[in-house]
Amino acid sequence: MAIKVKAVRGMQDLLPEKKAAFRFVEDQVRNIVGQYGYREVGLPVIESTQLFSRLVGESTDIVEKEMYSFADRNGESLTLRPEGTAGLVRLANENGLIFNQVQRFWYAGPMFRYERPQKGRYRQFEQIGVECLGMEGPDIDAEILLMSARIWEALGIEKDVTLELNSLGDVSSRQRYKDALVNYLNDYKSDLDEDSLRRLSSNPMRILDSKVPATQQLLSGAPELLDFLDEDSQRHFQGLCEILEQAGLQYCVNPRIVRGLDYYNRTVFEWVTDTLGSQGTVCGGGRYDGLVEQLGGKSSASVGFAMGLDRLVLMVEGSRAKTDSVELYVVSIGDQERIKALVLAERIRKELGITTLVHSGSSKLKAQMKKADASGAKAALIIGEQELTSGEITVRLLRSEGSQERIKEVQLVAYLRKVFDRE
Ligand code: HAM
Repeated sequence: MAIKVKAVRGMQDLLPEKKAAFRFVEDQVRNIVGQYGYREVGLPVIESTQLFSRLVGESTDIVEKEMYSFADRNGESLTLRPEGTAGLVRLANENGLIFNQVQRFWYAGPMFRYERPQKGRYRQFEQIGVECLGMEGPDIDAEILLMSARIWEALGIEKDVTLELNSLGDVSSRQRYKDALVNYLNDYKSDLDEDSLRRLSSNPMRILDSKVPATQQLLSGAPELLDFLDEDSQRHFQGLCEILEQAGLQYCVNPRIVRGLDYYNRTVFEWVTDTLGSQGTVCGGGRYDGLVEQLGGKSSASVGFAMGLDRLVLMVEGSRAKTDSVELYVVSIGDQERIKALVLAERIRKELGITTLVHSGSSKLKAQMKKADASGAKAALIIGEQELTSGEITVRLLRSEGSQERIKEVQLVAYLRKVFDRE
C-alpha cells in the first residue's frame, strides 16, 4: 500500500510563483547591500549546539525550546541554525577577519526554529542578514538603518513599515534596570501570567515583550530602560537619533524593545508592519559589541540585522514578482520532426536566450496549438513533414490574428531576433 507522506509541520513548499517572489526580494536586497559595500558569505546550516546556547543565551526562548538539535553519528551535539549572527561571528573569528579590520558581510538562507506555526511564522524560514564588524560609532548603526529603508523602497513597501528604536545600554546599566524591574514586578507577582512569572527569575527583561493584556497593563507603570542608560550609551543613542533626523529617516522610540536574543547591547531596533497580523516584525537587529570577545576574539564593536523573507514575500506577493514566462512554443508532428524541434530549440536558447518550451508527446496539431496558446508564448514554431523536407519552419505569431509565415531555417535565428527584440 502506498504511504502518504506530507511536508513536516511548519515547513513550506515554495511553488513557482512563491519562489519567484522570494527571488525578487533577494535580488532587490542583493543589489542594495552591494551598493553599500557588503559582501556575501555562505554559512553552514549546521553548527555546534554550544555556539547558540552560549551566544544566543541559555535562557532565551530560542535556546530553551526552539532549537532543532541532534547528536550526529559521533555523538556530537549539533543544531540546525536558528539564526545567522552567531555563525557569522564564528566564521569571521575562525578565518581571521576581525582583528583591526572593518568588515561588512551579508548572508541569506534558511533558519530553523521549533515555534508554533501560523501565518508569517514557520519552523523553516528564510532570512537575509547583514552584519558590520569593527565599527563602534552611531554612524554605522545609522548606515544600516538607512540601507534597510532603501530596501523597503525597492520592494515598494516603504509606506507599510515603521522603525522602532531603543537602547539597552551596557551590561551594568542593564543589570541596574533588571533589578529595578524585578523589584517593581515582585509586588505584582500574583497578577503575572505564567510565562512572565517564570521569566521573572530567568530573563526578566523578556517580560516587556509579553502580549498578555493584563501584563501589558502592569508594565505601563514599570521603570523604563532609557532612564537607566550609562552615559556612553546615552551619547551613542542621541548621536544615532541625530543622524537619523538629519537624514530624514522617521523612527519612534519604543522602550519595550528588548529583542529575544541575549547578545545585544546599546542600539536595538525592529521594523514592524500592521499588514501581517500578529507576526508583524519584518526585520530586527542591533549592536552586539561583546559577541566576538565571547568567542575568544579581540573585542570588536559590531552591529547588524536580519529580515524575514517569508514575511516580506507576503507583503510584496502579487505586486511585483513574476515567474519566468514562456516566450516561444515549438510544436511538431512525427518522430523525426520531434527530434528536429529539440535540436532547433537548443539552438534558439543558446543563440538568443529565448525561453522556449518544446511540446512533449505526440498529440494532434490542434491540441498542441491550444497548449502553445495557453502557455502565453508570443510565437509558435511548427515543424511537420513539409517543413522537414523543404528546410523551412512555420512561425505563427500567437498574439496577432492570422499571422503565419514560412521562414527558411537558415534565416530563422535572424527572424526570431527581430520578433523578440534581441538585437
Ligand atoms: P530575529 O529577530 O530573531 O533576529 O529574526 C529576524 C527576523 O527573522 C524577524 O524579524 C522575522 O522577520 C524573521 N523570523 C524570525 N523567526 C521567524 C519565523 N519563525 N518564521 C518566519 N520569520 C521569522 C535574528 O535572528 C538576529 N540574528 C538578527 C541580527 C543580525 N541581529 C544582529 N545581526
